[in-house]
Amino acid sequence: MTSNAPNNSTPRVVSDLDIAQTELKGLLQGRNAMSLAADVLISRTQVLPYSVVRFVRFKCAHDVLDVFLKRVVPGDGNVALARSRLMTEAEVLRDLGERMPGQAAPFFAVFPDQLVLATAACNGQQMDAVVCRGGISQLSPAVSARFENISEACGRWLRRFHELTREPAIDLRAWLRYERGEVSWRVALLERLDPANALLYRESGEKLRSELAGCALPLSGCRLHGDFAPHNIFVKGTTGIQVLDFYASRPGHPLHDLVNFIGKICGLAESPTFSAENSRRACVAFLKGYGPIRSEERTIARQLIVLQAIKRLLVIVEARRGGGLRARLNTKKGWYESFLARYVSPDEGGTSSFTPWPFLDLEIGK
Ligand SMILES: Nc1ncnc2c1ncn2[C@@H]1O[C@H](COP(=O)(O)OP(=O)(O)OP(=O)(O)O)[C@@H](O)[C@H]1O
Ligand SMILES: [Mg+2]
Repeated sequence: MTSNAPNNSTPRVVSDLDIAQTELKGLLQGRNAMSLAADVLISRTQVLPYSVVRFVRFKCAHDVLDVFLKRVVPGDGNVALARSRLMTEAEVLRDLGERMPGQAAPFFAVFPDQLVLATAACNGQQMDAVVCRGGISQLSPAVSARFENISEACGRWLRRFHELTREPAIDLRAWLRYERGEVSWRVALLERLDPANALLYRESGEKLRSELAGCALPLSGCRLHGDFAPHNIFVKGTTGIQVLDFYASRPGHPLHDLVNFIGKICGLAESPTFSAENSRRACVAFLKGYGPIRSEERTIARQLIVLQAIKRLLVIVEARRGGGLRARLNTKKGWYESFLARYVSPDEGGTSSFTPWPFLDLEIGK
């Protein structure tokens, strides 16, 4: 057995992963699934902001079984909360294994005491890797078309997931309060980091906060994925997708997932390879896949998209020293500022800024 434990994770994390790994091996042998398991090879360990992920290969005579062990790291030190979120993630994955077979990371086991979840490796590649390869040339038409097809498949996946998990009577007021809070701290931070544009941030923040406060939202909820985004989706072929990372899954309003995905696709256009046109087409395909949205929900969708623009003004990165996270201004902040300027003064420049999906009207790249 080989080991290459990350040097900046705590010994506790490493020993938790070791324990989970040993238990998993016993479990697999006990189930006779890998009765010939000869060895366990750790080929890679990744330290991420909220987790340490270890890739383990179980070998047997004629086959291999690739497993990801995710040890969550509770950012706020709240272990009980982290444990319950991990258990929820495990339950959702187990459930999806039956209801949407092959379309989510295959669940293997959860080790609550160690805060570890074990899933079998997804097929294919991460969706954002399809278009972000570190190059500077524009995407080929074939890659753009593939990305569009995948985006449409993501829309269909999300609709199905939301339909399967409808929760008719949840109270969405807490969610809206949370979103208003998200606006407040981000605007306060933006005002500090970029005083020259403080007025624009304050005005957009105030307008958005009051719109969210007055929003009459239909009380129809579902289970959210929580971070439905290309980096949490694996793709194979033209339209085959598998979704992972349900750690933030909770009851909520379907638009949350929808708008999160759109925001991330627009964020991809900040890289030189993915143009505004790529982004627009991917968003349109995604919405086509998702299908119709009730007209009374379009208002809140519009507001959530404004919130995405405010979020994209800040880039949250890992602090170099001392751990934790820090925020800096997005180097492409001009795109989002011009969008907010149209939001606070919709008539200026004669643009009719508000189609149901104003983010798609962003003149990204100009
Ligand atoms: N079953 C799996 N198959 C393939 N890759 C996986 C699997 N589980 C985890 N990974 C890899 O580990 C990464 C982190 O896992 P996951 O998204 O569940 O944790 P996370 O802490 O929420 O990460 P992030 O904050 O980056 O979203 C994934 O983006 C993926 O690259
Ligand atoms: Mg993830």
